[in-house]
Amino acid sequence: MQLQQNISLKPFNTFGIDVSAEYFVELEHAAMLEEIANDAALPKQVHALGGGSNILLSKAVSGLVVHNKLKGIVIEKEDSEHVWLRVEAGEIWHKLVMYAISNGWAGIENLALIPGTVGAAPIQNIGAYGVEAKETIESVTGWHWEERAFIDYTNADCNFGYRDSIFKGRLKDKIFISSVIFKLNKKPTFHTAYGPIQHELERMNIAELSIKAIADAVIAIRSSKLPDPKKIGNAGSFFKNPAISTEHFEMLQTNYPGIPCYPFSETMMKVPAGWLIEQCGWKGYRKGDTGVHEKQALVIVNYGKASGEEIWALSGEIMQSVKERFGINLEREVQVW
Ligand code: EPU
Repeated sequence: MQLQQNISLKPFNTFGIDVSAEYFVELEHAAMLEEIANDAALPKQVHALGGGSNILLSKAVSGLVVHNKLKGIVIEKEDSEHVWLRVEAGEIWHKLVMYAISNGWAGIENLALIPGTVGAAPIQNIGAYGVEAKETIESVTGWHWEERAFIDYTNADCNFGYRDSIFKGRLKDKIFISSVIFKLNKKPTFHTAYGPIQHELERMNIAELSIKAIADAVIAIRSSKLPDPKKIGNAGSFFKNPAISTEHFEMLQTNYPGIPCYPFSETMMKVPAGWLIEQCGWKGYRKGDTGVHEKQALVIVNYGKASGEEIWALSGEIMQSVKERFGINLEREVQVW
């Protein structure tokens, strides 16, 4: 095991924030997790790092950062309708999506181009364009630091919710996800109800709908709205879309007739945080090297040398103004270290 000390995490987070990790190791084999757990010289505080695309590094990281490099995709089983893939958690998510599409296996095509690794997909139940990862996750395997064993979690065990799971709740920091089993469909059901997909498919003049065409449409929409982390540091949606009571929504609607919404439950409506933030005048805002993306107000960006503290402070100001104007508490979606 090659242990590194005091290394910069700048290349390992898509916000491009330059803070150091006290200890850092690349995880090449799942068996190394047991070695780490048994090594009394290593710190007990362990942080699992995947693609670093959903984290805000607010300060230097103490303890051990374990960078997941576990790779491999194998077919666990298949029948005439489905294929079950075991995917190692360090695989790049988008690579898995493209691999599934090239084999004609459906279910994750709407999730094309989401940055990050496969291991992060269950943690925050990644979702986009009307589809969530929970719909295809059969089970998750992870190393439990306290139990010192690999444990399988069924889909039901994972307690999936909107950008939420047991791995963000009761099992936060207790589990290192090592692999995920996905159940994909050999006979696709297309999810094209989400407005922008319809528009994009029409614009692309698609003769016959396919999972490849849907992924192409999603890639086109994402590329047009969301900043490429290789060019401008960001972690995708910085906040969750808040759910508010129907009464609260109706009250807001009298003052803001154009307020967009999605039904969330019988008594709650979900409102796009991007819209709320734009209404408060933040879209395109810049202060030093931090800012709010000019095409999608839900994305906070680092134009170069922003620090984690500066991004944290800006997000706090945004939350405060949305609270004052709409009476809505925004919740950060990114994981803060
Ligand atoms: N909107 C604005 N101003 C903005 C941004 C959005 O008015 O600056 C309005 C749009 O006009 C639209 C609505 O808000 O009416 C929704 O916008 P969009 O379709 O861009 O989606 P979103 O709700 O802002 C969510 C996810 C994204 C996902 C898209 C597409 C969350 C927190 N974010 O964003 O996920 O790609 O839907 O399904 O749920 C991510 O999690 O990192 C992410 C990018």
